[in-house]
Amino acid sequence: MAEKRAQFGTRLGVIAATVGSAVGLGNIWRFPYECGTGGGGAFLAVYILFVFLIGVPCICAEFSLGRSSRRGMPGAFRISGARKQWGFLGYAAILAAFMILAFYAVVAGWTLEYIIDSATGLFRDTPNSDRHAQFTGFISGWKAVLWTIVFLVINGLVMIGGVEKGIERVSNILMPILFLILIVFCINSLTMEGASEGLYFLFHPDISKLTPDVVLGALGQAFFSLSLGMGCLVTYSSYFADDTPLIKTSMQIAALDTLVAVLAGVIIFPAVFSFGMTPDQGPTLVFEVLPNIFHSMPGGSFWSFLFFLLLALASLTSIISVSEIIVAFLVDEFRMGRLKATMIITCISLVTGTLCSLSFGPLKSLNLFNIFDFTSSNILMPLGGLGVCAFVGWQMRRSDFTAQMKMNSKVPAFIFDYISIGIKYVAPAAILIIFIAGLF
Ligand code: PHE
Repeated sequence: MAEKRAQFGTRLGVIAATVGSAVGLGNIWRFPYECGTGGGGAFLAVYILFVFLIGVPCICAEFSLGRSSRRGMPGAFRISGARKQWGFLGYAAILAAFMILAFYAVVAGWTLEYIIDSATGLFRDTPNSDRHAQFTGFISGWKAVLWTIVFLVINGLVMIGGVEKGIERVSNILMPILFLILIVFCINSLTMEGASEGLYFLFHPDISKLTPDVVLGALGQAFFSLSLGMGCLVTYSSYFADDTPLIKTSMQIAALDTLVAVLAGVIIFPAVFSFGMTPDQGPTLVFEVLPNIFHSMPGGSFWSFLFFLLLALASLTSIISVSEIIVAFLVDEFRMGRLKATMIITCISLVTGTLCSLSFGPLKSLNLFNIFDFTSSNILMPLGGLGVCAFVGWQMRRSDFTAQMKMNSKVPAFIFDYISIGIKYVAPAAILIIFIAGLF
């Protein structure tokens, strides 16, 4: 007899786990630097437009696919009447998940080192002029590998617990803590002298900053941040109860994920401006610029400890969602036990994660970190997003889709139309643009 499929226990658990997947390094590390280099308010405006115009329909597409099939990747594509060829999208998603797992664990590992360095006062004792050398020295060495391993092992331990007792329970605990830390930080940031300059930068859209690059960056960021295009939300929704309202949940996730990104901006930009720095430093913004700021702040060690703790917790709930894509695949397709599936994934990612970490040191010439980042974010995720929208929009039975969308909720006709048109036309067209532009 087939084993009963796991399910999230409560509606709050669904939100905590799914928002936990969405909120991660993407919001607190990637969003501020993308927004900082993309001109601030202009980037934010386009980003929010994409989240609701393209992101929400894509979330709904993934949800309807996952819950109607009660399968992860690639099983979700094998619903009755669909051609077999669609399955390759599912395998692409598994590949993308392995790649993200590897490089995400590296950056998440850095946050652990920073937590320790804040607690031991190493940051306080390092002069700002040595900050860059300290960071590059750390990421190129074996200590960074060690933290990558530690993070992957913690991830493995949560995964063994299962959907309800592992993922849901951890998300239920971590997400409220995360929101609490965010709010404490915002208050601190807003009371800084010169905060208004940072807020002006974040919220004042200067249209002249909108270049094609910025627009594409915003679209890619929306995909990454909402965990779209690689079956993560397909997998999670395959564990949703029948009475979870999909459209409402998709809007809540989009709203909360965007809120966290905006709050991260509210935390970082006022600090950047009050300490006379520039917001366009790129990926090192959080790891080099912020420690400089913490260094000069009263109680800096405490704030930096709290900040990197926030980043680590957010990364954990995201990385478990990436691992779940592969666990579900092994459990569904090979009838493997959860424990064995988790062990296999952890062993493989210990190797790939180590290789990614060493991409900043001895393996610079191979640079697997960049290859994985580029291939997953710029090729596999857009391709997957396009595929899911095309599949749900054009292959899935219309009545199945409508039933999923309307189950247990009254959906106004215009909202339903916005979602359907988004899935069929708007999202695929937009994704096609990022995909082609991403390649060049
Ligand atoms: N959304 C996560 C973040 O913002 C990253 C992620 C991507 C998680 C894809 C799952 C799948 O950090």
